[in-house]
Amino acid sequence: MKTLGVVVLAAGKGTRMKTTTPKALVQTLGRPLIDYVLDAVLQFTENEKISCDIGVVIGHKKELLEEWHANHSKKNIMKLAWQREQNGTADALKACFNDLPEFKNYEYTLVACADTPMLKASDFAKLFSVLKDHPKCVGVAATFHEDIPFGYGRIVRSNTGFHIVEEKDATDEQRKITEVNSGVYIVKTSHVLEVIGKITNNNKSGEFYLTDLFGDQFAVAPVLFASGDNFSGVNTLEQLSGVDELLLKQKIRELQLKGVTLLRPTSTYMDFEVEIAEGVTIYPGVTLLGKTKIATGAVVESGCFLKNTVIEENVQVLAHSYLEDAIIQKGAAIGPMARIRPGTTVGMKAKVGNFVEVKKSHLKDGAKVSHLSYVGDAEIGENTNIGCGFITCNYDGVNKHKTIIGKNTFIGSDCQVIAPIEIGDNSFVAAGSTITKSVPSGAFAVARGQQITKEGAASRFLKTKKN
Ligand code: UD1
Ligand code: MG
Repeated sequence: MKTLGVVVLAAGKGTRMKTTTPKALVQTLGRPLIDYVLDAVLQFTENEKISCDIGVVIGHKKELLEEWHANHSKKNIMKLAWQREQNGTADALKACFNDLPEFKNYEYTLVACADTPMLKASDFAKLFSVLKDHPKCVGVAATFHEDIPFGYGRIVRSNTGFHIVEEKDATDEQRKITEVNSGVYIVKTSHVLEVIGKITNNNKSGEFYLTDLFGDQFAVAPVLFASGDNFSGVNTLEQLSGVDELLLKQKIRELQLKGVTLLRPTSTYMDFEVEIAEGVTIYPGVTLLGKTKIATGAVVESGCFLKNTVIEENVQVLAHSYLEDAIIQKGAAIGPMARIRPGTTVGMKAKVGNFVEVKKSHLKDGAKVSHLSYVGDAEIGENTNIGCGFITCNYDGVNKHKTIIGKNTFIGSDCQVIAPIEIGDNSFVAAGSTITKSVPSGAFAVARGQQITKEGAASRFLKTKKN
């Protein structure tokens, strides 16, 4: 007999969330709630060397969960079951056994809810070891004390055992109980199969409660955990912001232990998947999203926003810069107040200065665009210097066109190049030029209006002040 079937309940309507996204897919730190639960399950089974099947019960807005599943890196070890109507947590587990009968063959069934993203592998391990140490027990349920237990099922202990009473069904006295049900259980599958069909919906919600798997008449052990942090359930957006804060604190603490300096950690926001190496300094008020990676020696100053951006070693991202889907290579400097748009690579020791926007372009090693410029759909060669106020005119109103500039070239200030266009290596474009024709390597180009100077003629244009 195989050891463990894991069932994650994710079919519920999540009515209290009031979000259009189904609750399991609502994100915290840029990642769906359910993914955290899966991580903890997979870590647990890997640590215990248990090969398991994971059944995910879906129902409400199931198409969105099917899409999530289809794109998931772990889709091969997850099977979906469909709870047709959302008639409660026991009904959801039943749907799993109906759709995935192989789950009946496991010795134990572990149940977790998709809305408890703080769960850790160690929580499952503790429960599992208690169950294995008490062979007469048919199951274990994780409990904890919560000062404000509102919304949780209360653990009502008696001389013979315990049972769980849901918020809605509890008496005033029972509502005062602070020991609550976490929603995480490991139960002998034989017990589940024996009892689940007998559970009724005779309660205030008219739902089939999974908590009725337990009862004073069954040998089930409540396992009281010292802290409830890992079991925080997300039923409302307020609770979501609570777990968001806890998860962020955990992540920041791990980074600090590793040697990342965060000058004001409480003002730094980052998504779960962001990677930061030791020796990085992050100033106050920085936002790091998606798959952003920051390598050692880099500095990110205040007010910067980085999304899916790779920052290599010793890069400086100066204050108030906005970077998205970009690669900034070793020793480069960005900003202050630069905008780096998707598809951009800034080469080693290259520089993008203040009020410069770069889109879908490659600035090769040592290239510099230091002030007030727009570089779009361009390649700028090694060590080329672009003066202040440069514009690649890349859009003709219908199509986008490329600008290619070679290496060691100098472009004076206030130049525009009308793409498509090529400017060669070692060439020189004089300031104030509007370049419409390609410039070969080694050439000098100037394209500006002729200056006319008329001595003494200024008085005709200067208005004198009348008193
Ligand atoms: C549940 C427990 C409660 C416990 C709490 C811990 C029950 C009856 N109550 O309450 O004792 O303290 O979790 O967080 O189990 N779901 C389905 N199908 C349904 C209904 C729910 O799949 O028909 C899923 C939800 O998507 C969710 C999970 O089951 O992931 C729990 O449902 P939820 O409505 O959040 O239950 P709670 O009220 O939090
Ligand atoms: Mg819940």
